[in-house]
Amino acid sequence: MKVEKYDITATDSWSALKKLTRSISELRISELYAADNSRVEKYSLKCAGVYLDFSKNLVDENVRRALLDLLSESPFEEQREAMFRGYAINTTEQRPVLHTALRSDKQMLADDGLENLGTQIEAQKQHIKEVSDKIRSGNWRGSSGRQVTDVINLGIGGSDLGPRMVCEALKEFAHPSVRCHFVSNVDGELINSTLKKLDPETTLVIISSKTFTTQETLLNANTAAAWFREHLSLENPYATSHFIGVTASPENAIKLGVLEENLLEFWDWVGGRYSLWSTIGLSIAISLGYERFEKLLNGAREMDRHFRSSPADQNMPVIMALLGLWYTDFFDAESQAVIPYCQRMVEFPTYLQQLDMESNGKLVMHDGSAVNCKTGPIVWGQTGTNGQHSFFQLLHQGSHMVPVDFIGVLKDKMSSPDHHRVLLANMLAQSAALMQGKQAEESEPYRHYPGNRPSNVILMDELSPYTLGALIALYEHKVFVQGCLWNINSFDQWGVELGKVLADKLLSEESDKSDLDDSTRTLLAAVDATL
Ligand code: F6P
Repeated sequence: MKVEKYDITATDSWSALKKLTRSISELRISELYAADNSRVEKYSLKCAGVYLDFSKNLVDENVRRALLDLLSESPFEEQREAMFRGYAINTTEQRPVLHTALRSDKQMLADDGLENLGTQIEAQKQHIKEVSDKIRSGNWRGSSGRQVTDVINLGIGGSDLGPRMVCEALKEFAHPSVRCHFVSNVDGELINSTLKKLDPETTLVIISSKTFTTQETLLNANTAAAWFREHLSLENPYATSHFIGVTASPENAIKLGVLEENLLEFWDWVGGRYSLWSTIGLSIAISLGYERFEKLLNGAREMDRHFRSSPADQNMPVIMALLGLWYTDFFDAESQAVIPYCQRMVEFPTYLQQLDMESNGKLVMHDGSAVNCKTGPIVWGQTGTNGQHSFFQLLHQGSHMVPVDFIGVLKDKMSSPDHHRVLLANMLAQSAALMQGKQAEESEPYRHYPGNRPSNVILMDELSPYTLGALIALYEHKVFVQGCLWNINSFDQWGVELGKVLADKLLSEESDKSDLDDSTRTLLAAVDATL
């Protein structure tokens, strides 16, 4: 594979793009429409109910061609095949990366020589179905024999963000009498206030953790177990029907006391931030029903097919990846804003933060040498129109370039036409305003809008399990393509380890604290003095 030697900044296309940045700064995006009346048609794509208009970008045909050349000089194509075929592309952990297999079908898996995996995946999917059906139908009973009315997903990072985001986005379809709650933070207020409003007899806790060693999740589980112990006089609450474990480390869950029959497993080749498609998605199936969980997988599968088979210039994740890289590396754009104009998608930017920043926030290439350019952007955002009344000032007149992804939903049964029209009109107006800008009188420079600020508009036909599945896969693959271009490993997360080790040291009574810096030692003393 080219991976070993490749450095994007040493390619001919990189140099060509560098030159193009000079000429492009004279270009006004808004003028490109007049020069080419098929721009919108050429610069838009649709797949699985998700439409992307990328015409409002600082890109003309020369840039588009150069970006595509950049892609063809990269190891992207081999890496994409290697991912789908299950080669160990997560090189620092020697693991394949196969979240796509979780939503694949028999034929596709067989074509990739992964039929055995298909059988294991099918068995786990059946398990999700059985357990979620049993809970939804009232046949999963607590220790006193009562039906489950409340499910708490205890997990953090990838064991929380995906299911939380999907359940919120698709709450239109939520079960009317089995409610799902999500507890991630170790801040005790959260678990305490969640438990306080629930009845232990009718509460089920899902401990979702790939490793079953995560400090926050285990402590929250302990607090929940103590609550059951106290209220239901259970000696070992973990070993009852009040606890389910979802994990890739069943031995750790069993050690904690969770019953083997209450365990759902997945595999180490599913990265935490890619795990909502696995048994980690149990809370999704409980909330929405297994059939809708399958539809979510189907939408993602359609995007996978598109990603794997469409030519680069017609490939939605590829196009979004190239545009993002164009701004990050050639315009010094530090961040990427994602603004869904749909309140139910309020968790989407937070979900994307982990997906993108834990994947591509990296400093070294596959061969261990330093990258010579900027890698993953700082992803942030919140819903529109709320954001318009807080940070949009900076988007329009601030000194940073912030590319924006606007995401809207065309048909929304949960809203009403008068509200929905206002909502979407605002989204389109913001995208247009960022591009067009506005000249001001010389005496009023503060009224000047420079414009020429790029954005994508993504329109989903509706917010359904299918389209949401496709949207998530779109971003997953965008992040993957960028990782290939930068030649970094998008599938490990060593950067989170050091802080965990230090927190353990601070917590441990036996550990030697003499090598701590003065600041940390003084702050720790202040904390210890109050507890
Ligand atoms: O600390 C980062 C991380 O390892 C994420 O990658 C992961 O999604 C999260 O923690 C939770 O890990 P686990 O599922 O093993 O509890």
